[in-house]
Amino acid sequence: MDNSTKNEINSVAKELGMTASEMSGLINVCNNPEGRHHVPRNAWTAVTFKALTALQNHGYIVPEFMVEQAKLNAEATIIEDVEVLIQKSLNVANRDKKPVSSRIWSRFFFDSDLVNESRDLQEYLASSQLPSNYEYDEELRSRVYGCDDYTALKLSNEFVKEMKTATLGPYPHMALEDIIPYKEAFCARLGLSRKDVSKKIINIQAKKGGVGKSSVTTGVAGAFAMTASRPYRVLVIDADGQGSTTHLLSLRGEDGCKLYSDRPSIFDVLMASKAIDARKSETTALYNQLLADSIVDTPIPNVSMIQANDFPFDQKIKIGRSNSATEIKADELRHVIEDAMEKGDFDIAIIDSRPDLHTATKLSFAAADKAINVMRPCGEDRDAYRGYLKEIAADVVPEICGDGNWTLPEMSVLFNQVTKTQNQHRVNMGQLAACFDRRGFIKTTNTMIFESRVITSASTMDCSIWSMPRESISGINAQVIGSFRAQFTSLALELEDEWLKNNK
Ligand SMILES: Nc1ncnc2c1ncn2[C@@H]1O[C@H](COP(=O)(O)OP(=O)(O)O)[C@@H](O)[C@H]1O
Ligand SMILES: [Mg+2]
Repeated sequence: MDNSTKNEINSVAKELGMTASEMSGLINVCNNPEGRHHVPRNAWTAVTFKALTALQNHGYIVPEFMVEQAKLNAEATIIEDVEVLIQKSLNVANRDKKPVSSRIWSRFFFDSDLVNESRDLQEYLASSQLPSNYEYDEELRSRVYGCDDYTALKLSNEFVKEMKTATLGPYPHMALEDIIPYKEAFCARLGLSRKDVSKKIINIQAKKGGVGKSSVTTGVAGAFAMTASRPYRVLVIDADGQGSTTHLLSLRGEDGCKLYSDRPSIFDVLMASKAIDARKSETTALYNQLLADSIVDTPIPNVSMIQANDFPFDQKIKIGRSNSATEIKADELRHVIEDAMEKGDFDIAIIDSRPDLHTATKLSFAAADKAINVMRPCGEDRDAYRGYLKEIAADVVPEICGDGNWTLPEMSVLFNQVTKTQNQHRVNMGQLAACFDRRGFIKTTNTMIFESRVITSASTMDCSIWSMPRESISGINAQVIGSFRAQFTSLALELEDEWLKNNK
């Protein structure tokens, strides 16, 4: 390439806001469409009508397929613009500052409704004549809180009274983050510390899409931070390039734009971690910098996140043992998460994984102490789950088992979108019965997440159930949101109980 061509490329690229290498990638294809197989991905994402017009104006012949690419890229840009406009008009920046109604404060300390809900379910199941052996664990709360329900409730009421005095006013509201100090004081009174649970990594998984992985991830993350027995510090890792969790947990500015969209994603951090070379200190420095920058705040106090982006990680990287550019070690994500937990003093990390069994999903599974399989109580999901287990056995374990001394993460099944019929307690038990058969190695959690408008409304509002625009939206009031959050609280307590027992 002579100097004048170089200068031309540089000036056109500058005009279009593209790098010179992206621009020269496109120019090479104009000269020789067969050369398209060597063009870096960034150049393709930079194909716009503006860029193609500039190329034509400089005498290059643009192949037809690039015009088609420009259409696709233009459409994606329009969607992005529309999204920002919507978010701006909804004024989401203020949404996350909306306070919690005093009517549900007590749920943040000790949720007495949990007791009734589990009892109701137990009673219904016992009378249903279905072959289930669901057992409501009467002792669970006293183990986790270290005292009986009566004592916890009494203390919880005392703290609510203190909050009322502090806020003064007829309908005292309090922001989520303002509840945390009271919660900490409550725990101190009961002698509970978030450090009672040693650092844990949970993978939320399912091979099927749309079963509720992302909803469960955000739901239980909020529960660990806000309504579990202790106010844990939680790190959510979005390992699904579709970015649903990133979307639901993104803070936005007044202009409607996501605050942290320029921060490194989990894939960027993994690539930097993979590239660490002990002989070159700058590689370690780069990794540390990217890792620190990748941990961002979310609308839920005490919940941070490492975001996903659309980097085609699975297409580029496979699991392997070499240091090559295209291979990654099976425990790389585990190390990254451990480093992040150390850096940010997190107690619990929750990975939202992909609905497939490609590289990122295998890394997520390999990283976990605890794996929660989300499924709906229907044959369709049960079948997919059975196939998934066999695939993990045949295709994943041999790849991730290292020197062979490998054990499964603790695995559980969690039912989501469980339907109630008109009668409140008539759960769709026909489907569930088979699943509560406890012969298996993999237990079903006692907690079930019911189908609810609270979750669908939250996703329509682009947020998690912890930062609904108001505590009351489209007819859903604070009590309903509170009782729905209680299901995630229940799940958090079950997991806490499991870990506290193991720690003893
Ligand atoms: N318990 C539930 N009740 C009602 N809708 C739900 C529930 N769980 C998930 N959904 C809805 O189902 C859709 C898919 O859920 P999502 O969490 O994104 O699944 P996944 O991450 O497994 O693909 C979303 O629109 C979500 O709002
Ligand atoms: Mg998802």
